[in-house]
Amino acid sequence: MHYIVLPLVATETVYSFFTDSSEKGSHYITRNRTPFLIGLTTLTIYRHLLTPFSQSELSYTEARLPGLWLVEVSNGELSFLFQIPLNPISPRPAKMPGSVPANGEASWPKDVGIVAMEIYLPSQYVDQAELEQFDGVDAGKYTIGLGQAKMGFCSDREDINSLCLTAVQRLMERNCLSYESIGRLEVGTETIIDKSKSVKTVLMQLFEESGNTDVEGIDTTNACYGGTAALFNAVNWVESSSWDGRYALVVAGDIAVYATGSARPTGGAGAVAMLVGPNAPLVFDRGLRGTHMQHAYDFYKPDMVSEYPVVDGKLSIQCYLGALDRCYTVFRNKIHAQWQKEGSNKRFSLEDFGFMIFHSPYCKLVQKSLARLVLNDFLSHPNPNTESGIFSGLEAFRDVKLEDTYFDRDVEKAFMKASAELYNQKTKASLLVSNQNGNMYTPSVYGCLASVLAQNSPQQLAGERIGVFSYGSGFAATLYSIRVTQDATPGKFVCSSLDKLTASLCDLKSRLDSRRRVAPELFAENMKLRQETHHLANYIPQGSVDDLFPGTWFLTQVDEKHRRQYARRPLNENGPLEAGLVHSTATQHIPSPAKKVPRIPSIAEGPETVVISNGEH
Ligand SMILES: CC(C)(COP(=O)(O)OP(=O)(O)OC[C@H]1O[C@@H](n2cnc3c(N)ncnc32)[C@H](O)[C@@H]1OP(=O)(O)O)[C@@H](O)C(=O)NCCC(=O)NCCS
Repeated sequence: MHYIVLPLVATETVYSFFTDSSEKGSHYITRNRTPFLIGLTTLTIYRHLLTPFSQSELSYTEARLPGLWLVEVSNGELSFLFQIPLNPISPRPAKMPGSVPANGEASWPKDVGIVAMEIYLPSQYVDQAELEQFDGVDAGKYTIGLGQAKMGFCSDREDINSLCLTAVQRLMERNCLSYESIGRLEVGTETIIDKSKSVKTVLMQLFEESGNTDVEGIDTTNACYGGTAALFNAVNWVESSSWDGRYALVVAGDIAVYATGSARPTGGAGAVAMLVGPNAPLVFDRGLRGTHMQHAYDFYKPDMVSEYPVVDGKLSIQCYLGALDRCYTVFRNKIHAQWQKEGSNKRFSLEDFGFMIFHSPYCKLVQKSLARLVLNDFLSHPNPNTESGIFSGLEAFRDVKLEDTYFDRDVEKAFMKASAELYNQKTKASLLVSNQNGNMYTPSVYGCLASVLAQNSPQQLAGERIGVFSYGSGFAATLYSIRVTQDATPGKFVCSSLDKLTASLCDLKSRLDSRRRVAPELFAENMKLRQETHHLANYIPQGSVDDLFPGTWFLTQVDEKHRRQYARRPLNENGPLEAGLVHSTATQHIPSPAKKVPRIPSIAEGPETVVISNGEH
């Protein structure tokens, strides 16, 4: 008998090890109750990763990985002993650190916030400089004027259900989570397909094998704000008397597409899944949310058969900036009240945020928004120093009124200049995903959070307060703050939850770089196809499946009753299929929305295909 330590490079690694039947009979471990049948090749590939169990031999790199697994080898049989707790998430279902006591009495859990995060971005993009040329606008309008470099987009193979399926399942897999450990699942989206039927209920198919149907939460919609509302619901639940000790999971996802014209370059797509629980590395500050909600028709989707919004671009900018002013004022008042209670008369300013992130419809608006917060600090300061420091030379603007300055060029220019250094320090890094992928709507601000986590070390993040401004047209907005844990232990053997969170996102840039560039002509054709086929019954998508990233869920067909079916690309390109591919054989004429002709689906599904649908089971 001997012991070996298996570093968990990815969830499938562990599964492949345990499930190799030729090595150990029928033995397998199914923590998610999902047996993955993976062959000997995979085992051989990962065999070199097995290291004799010796603490001193564990390298730092290994320690940063999601977990280490102690395995007993006896008489050719492998058995799982325990996981060395490098993972913030216990592999045991249902309970976790900070769970409610056994007597069921709810105690207020400590440090509730984001424990783990997963971001999904489409595998293809259009270059904004090429799009400027294609659209016949002046060079620089999209790239400099809006600050956008690339725009991710989906073919007709992806919809809101598939985006959320992908993000949720990857989060569960990468963090070795059992579906039984989730007690609440919230979806924030403004991409509506089935109207009365939620995306959340579609996602419940992922839970079926676990048998866990005791999962609260449902979809929340208000333009780009739905993700934040969903996240607040999750945090509130964990902090409430309703909490049963399990994690909450939040997924924000959208496909942001616009009709041809000035708004089209501000599109994008993606999904962010977040695990919410106590003892989190990113803790929600209690009592510090500044909210502003108001009625406006700046952006809305009244056309039920179109994916496109009706948008009043200039009004939306005015609403966004107005909401920012109001939320910041409320937030500042609340933090002053907290500080006063603690006996401090300190004034809050932007300097108190280590990072400041914003909902990003396009990057230039975010840069202007940071400048706007400096304007707010300046105007609210009883006696600003205009001789030196950040407000130097700004005395001419002392009497301006916020509501008169949304499009005031002089104010904008002066405060953009004054805030340039703060922007570089606190906000610029957060725009990685936004600049490279565009506006994702609900996940946009969480893509900014992921960008910050991906580009800063745990030591740089530890103890910082992150300001978060979330805006959704119509309109609803909140400015709130997240406190990063002090514990940045990089861990030779046991690393901090913050270290694990940042490590899980450290490949963000390479994921963005690995996407496929598509010519604007093809992008435009794709948009036309989506436009013409959106909400058709009896539809078989035409987009390539091979171009999707491994592990991506995709739409295989919409049947005559608009029921959708999905399949998943395998996670390991070289490994056996986890979910079979369904290759579309669609050559049929696609009826217009006005002439929906019921037809029998002509889809060939191989024996290995794993398909889920949102229809009847
Ligand atoms: C944002 C939106 C209104 C811009 O469309 P538009 O009116 O055609 O764009 P503009 O003419 O204002 O040009 C955009 C910027 O590029 C600048 N620009 C134009 N041509 C340029 C060029 N050749 N080089 C550099 N900059 C250029 C403009 O000066 C403008 O900058 P400014 O905002 O600092 O004034 C439009 O994309 C939209 O409606 N988007 C969707 C809604 C949205 O994102 N709202 C945001 C709040 S939620």
